[in-house]
This record gives sequence, C-alpha cells and structure tokens, in this order.
Amino acid sequence: MKAAILKKFGAPLIVEHVPMPAIGTGEVIVDVVAAPMVSYARDVFSGARNYPLPTPVIPGLGGIGRVREAGPDATHLNIGDWVFCDPTVRSRDDALMPDIALQGWSARGKGGAKLQTYHRDGTFAEQVRIPTECAIPIGHIDASNASRWSALSVLTIAYGGLVALDFRPGETLLVNGATGNFGSATVQVALAMGARCVVAVGRNETVLEDLRRRFGERLVPVRLSEDASTAAMQAATQNPIDAVLDFLPPHVPATVARAAVMSVRPYGRVVLMGGVGMLGGEDLALPYPWIMRNNITIRGQWMYEAKSVTTLIGLIRVGLLDLEQFEVAEFGIDRINEAVSHAFRHAGPFRLTVTTM
Ligand SMILES: NC(=O)c1ccc[n+]([C@@H]2O[C@H](COP(=O)([O-])OP(=O)(O)OC[C@H]3O[C@@H](n4cnc5c(N)ncnc54)[C@H](OP(=O)(O)O)[C@@H]3O)[C@@H](O)[C@H]2O)c1
Repeated sequence: MKAAILKKFGAPLIVEHVPMPAIGTGEVIVDVVAAPMVSYARDVFSGARNYPLPTPVIPGLGGIGRVREAGPDATHLNIGDWVFCDPTVRSRDDALMPDIALQGWSARGKGGAKLQTYHRDGTFAEQVRIPTECAIPIGHIDASNASRWSALSVLTIAYGGLVALDFRPGETLLVNGATGNFGSATVQVALAMGARCVVAVGRNETVLEDLRRRFGERLVPVRLSEDASTAAMQAATQNPIDAVLDFLPPHVPATVARAAVMSVRPYGRVVLMGGVGMLGGEDLALPYPWIMRNNITIRGQWMYEAKSVTTLIGLIRVGLLDLEQFEVAEFGIDRINEAVSHAFRHAGPFRLTVTTM
C-alpha cells in the first residue's frame, strides 16, 4: 500500500509503498478515503511541538474510510461500510482508567506510550489497522463527500466537551476561544443542540462577525480587549450563563481562562479543554469559596466517548448540524507535504485540509 512516512522529525514526509497492516482479533482494516491534516501538523513533523511520536511512523489523526476486513469479534460491521476512524485508542485492560493514545499522533504518559508501540501508524496511508471500537459507522455517504465528513475530527472534540458539560437545549453557553478551530466548532454544535444563546468570546473581530453572520441572533459575540473581564462576558446576554467551555491554547495567560470560568452562574458547569498552563506560567487559581458557595462544577475533558460520535452523526443526518459550513481543500497523498503547508497557512474556523487516497 501507499503511505506517507515521517522517517525522522524535521524531514519531509516521504510517500512509499509499504506492506499492508495485518489484521488481528479485535481489529479492523479500513481503506482510508480521506484523512484530515491539522493546522499545526507542520510543527509536529518539524519536532517543534516535541510530540511523543516514535519515528519512523505513518502519521495521520483519524479520517473517513470503508471497512476492508473486520476481526472475528465484530458483530455489526460489514465489508464496505463507511466509518469514521476514531484515533482515540483506549487500553482494554482497565475499564476504569484506560490509557489513551491518539493513533498516528501522540500518547499520554507511560501507558499511552505502551499502547502506541502497537497502535502506532495513522491514516496517511491507503489502509489503516484500528481497534474494532474505533471503526464507527457513519452510514452511507457519496465518496465525493468523504473529505467533508472529515470535519468529524473537529466536531467530535467540540461535542465531547458539550457532552461532558451535560449541555441541554434551552441553555446559555459561553465559549472561550470561540474564534479558534475547536471553539468555533463548539459554537456550531451547541447551536445545533438547541442552545438558547452562545456567548462567543474571542479577540478577532472579523471572525466574530463571521460567526454572527453564519449563526444569527443566538450567537452573541464578545470581543476581548486588553483586559479579559468577567463582567463584560456576563453583560453580553440577559440570560445567566449556564455553562462555560474553554478552548484556549497553551500560550494564553491563565487570567483569560479565569475570567471566562467565573462568568458561569451559581450551580453552573465548566469544562476545560484547552492547553492553558501546559507551557508553564501562572496557575488557573480559582477562588475556593467561589466554587464552594456557588456549587460550581469544574472538570477537564480530553477527546470524547466513542458512543457520542454516533449521536453527533445523528445531528448531521437530521440536518441540524451542517457540514457545508466547512470549506474543504483536498490534496492527493502524493502531494501530502503541500497539504501540510496549506493546513498551516489556512488555519482557522471552518477550514479543512484533507489528504485523499
Ligand atoms: N481537550 C481536547 O480533547 C483537545 C483536542 C484538540 C485540541 N485541544 C486544544 O485546544 C486548544 C485550542 O486549539 P485550536 O486549534 O482551537 O486553537 P486556535 O485555532 O489557535 O484557537 C485559539 C483561540 O484562542 C484565542 N486566543 C489566542 N491567544 C489569546 C490570548 N492571548 N488571549 C485571548 N484569547 C486568545 C484565539 O482568539 P483570536 O483568534 O480571536 O485571537 C482563538 O479563539 C489547544 O490548546 C489544543 O491543544 C484540546
């Protein structure tokens, strides 16, 4: 099969013919049709992000494809089924605290690294071997739409946060980092789920205006000035803010996240999904009495539960969540290094760069 290989960090990807992966029990081989290229792939492949990804490796973080072969313990999958290849691989020997590796991309801690030694190669290849539970059926699609369905890679993460929040129709949500890739997807999914109002917080006025144009009056933009102010966020809407989802990246000071977290109403819920503090800096340091007296719930969320992918697909299938919002740029696997640069130059909300096989 043809695959794009990262031989070492700092080198371009090289497209070569390599042996097809062999199937084992509990696994599925998928013919990959479309695999998304994230905007920061350039920094991962250069080594700048110092990702835990042993080389040589076939990278690639999930995608859309068709089942080529399923193991003997698969009871629902059929050859030819269209599936979302979920890169979130969980260890199966601890249901309470599974280790996680993002296949073809990264891993968390020692257990994740161990998992990654086997579930290592990703989707920048004509075939990929994935755990059976990671082949999630999406129903029939036209092959020409496979790249657009790669938007699932972003939408599932946004939805994972909303499920973690137990977000309900009729509620008001504040999204911090709403002008970013995952923040904007969160805005879209929350509105599709029946949000009464989404307070979209960001600095980029053009993107905030674009969100308002796309989503109408239920979208309330709040432009961050020098000072991130809790009061300004609360004043943006007459509704109390029921829930807050933060998607700020690592370089942002914790004060910006804190201002948003503290905009939530008493008895409200907060989910943290960004990277604040990962490069050091001030701690989030929320006031203990404020959390206690107001019965606030705060939790973190990495990725999503596999079963939530299916309900997200339901929102798409009934027309509540519109994949047409995404602008798609396709590059055949032979042009994968162009895809890497394109994804970097065209980062931003509702933009997808996809490698096709
Ligand atoms: N938990 C998970 O499962 C999960 C999964 C994937 C990614 N992530 C994390 O999510 C985070 C966001 O990723 P992304 O791709 O959405 O990033 P992105 O597209 O670069 O968006 C960044 C957002 O942060 C805002 N921002 C940047 N600097 C700021 C500052 N100094 N003050 C206030 N706002 C600032 C940006 O606002 P403007 O554009 O308006 O300036 C934008 O809204 C990353 O840390 C990523 O690692 C988490």
